Amino acid sequence: MGSSSLSLSRIVSACSLALLVRDFVAAIVTTTTTTTTTSRRPRTFLVTGSTDGIGRHTCRRLASDGHMLLVHGRRDPSDPVVETLVRDLEDRGASRVAYLRADLGDLEQVRNLAEDAVAQLRSWQLPPEDDRSMPALDCLINNAGVFDPTPRRSAQGFDATMAVNVLAPFVLTRALLPCLIRGSDARIVTTSSVSQSRTLPDLDSLFARRFDGERRNDDGTNDQYHDFEPLPYSAHSSYAHSKLGDLLFTVQLSRLLSSYRPPEDDLLRTTSASLLLENLRRIQCLTMDPGTVNTKMLLAGWGPCGIPVGEANNTYILATSDEYAFGARAAKSGSYHFGWGMSDYARDDARLVDFWNKLSDCTGVSYDDLSRDCF
Ligand SMILES: *[C@@H]1O[C@H](CO)[C@@H](O)[C@H](O)[C@H]1NC(C)=O
Repeated sequence: MGSSSLSLSRIVSACSLALLVRDFVAAIVTTTTTTTTTSRRPRTFLVTGSTDGIGRHTCRRLASDGHMLLVHGRRDPSDPVVETLVRDLEDRGASRVAYLRADLGDLEQVRNLAEDAVAQLRSWQLPPEDDRSMPALDCLINNAGVFDPTPRRSAQGFDATMAVNVLAPFVLTRALLPCLIRGSDARIVTTSSVSQSRTLPDLDSLFARRFDGERRNDDGTNDQYHDFEPLPYSAHSSYAHSKLGDLLFTVQLSRLLSSYRPPEDDLLRTTSASLLLENLRRIQCLTMDPGTVNTKMLLAGWGPCGIPVGEANNTYILATSDEYAFGARAAKSGSYHFGWGMSDYARDDARLVDFWNKLSDCTGVSYDDLSRDCF
């Protein structure tokens, strides 16, 4: 009896061991398979400003990896530059390509861009879901940026450089959060610049040019509008301010998302809402110096002092490499990459909050109400 129970227990242990080994092997195989499929599965990207420069280069690399691309520019869809771009990306292997047109200097068009992106992503969903379901977006790359030698006003009356480079990402990102929380390994990559590290005057000066006024419309009604005081800064200064804005935006965004708490507790009673909340907290927000690259913009503002566009891989790397995924040691959400000398403002809690509130005030967009459309 004793010996048979012993042998039974031996058999049991042998089985357990075999099971353990099998599970262990299975786990390795599964992990490997999952990793492989994850990296090979076409992911969805929206890249702003992708008709030339670093945006186009980034899209070309993403296309070669077989991803699904929403490309964006100011040009008309029938423009030969756009048609050539879309064909080129398809030829390189992109699973899907769609071009979305918007002038990011107009916040109304930024909102429309987000709507167009959602509609396009929805049409790509497999299997097709119903018309109201929120589709997934894996990565938003806020790449579009302007340097304007002649300062201009945006459609809403802001400094156009601030509007395109900072206000537009602020509005676009918020509008696409419901899609990003449904993405996998979701990332928000926003292009800053070495220019952000310059010592800048008081942060208020970022918006100092704005003042409020009233404008009479054709139909006799009055509209509030914002106008500028005479520009106290050079175009280069304006650009540096905006790139500092991109850095501060990313840092504060990562803080808000990683610690977000929905106001109503009962949201979390459903499993899917809890999972979405967890995904929201895991969105990886990254920013960087894209390198000094001979883009149209660099040539206009600084001359040909950079590397060729085809070498400008920083954006692509942040958006795709496992080294920059959520939880990776080298890349906490909210971090700045490929450049030394991050502005001290990015470590100043009060300034970050103050800046964020200004973005909210200027755009009328809030990040406090995510439960309205995210979960
Ligand atoms: C950037 O990536 C391209 C591949 O598209 C490669 O040929 C080039 O050497 C890379 N450049 C740098 C500086 O890493």
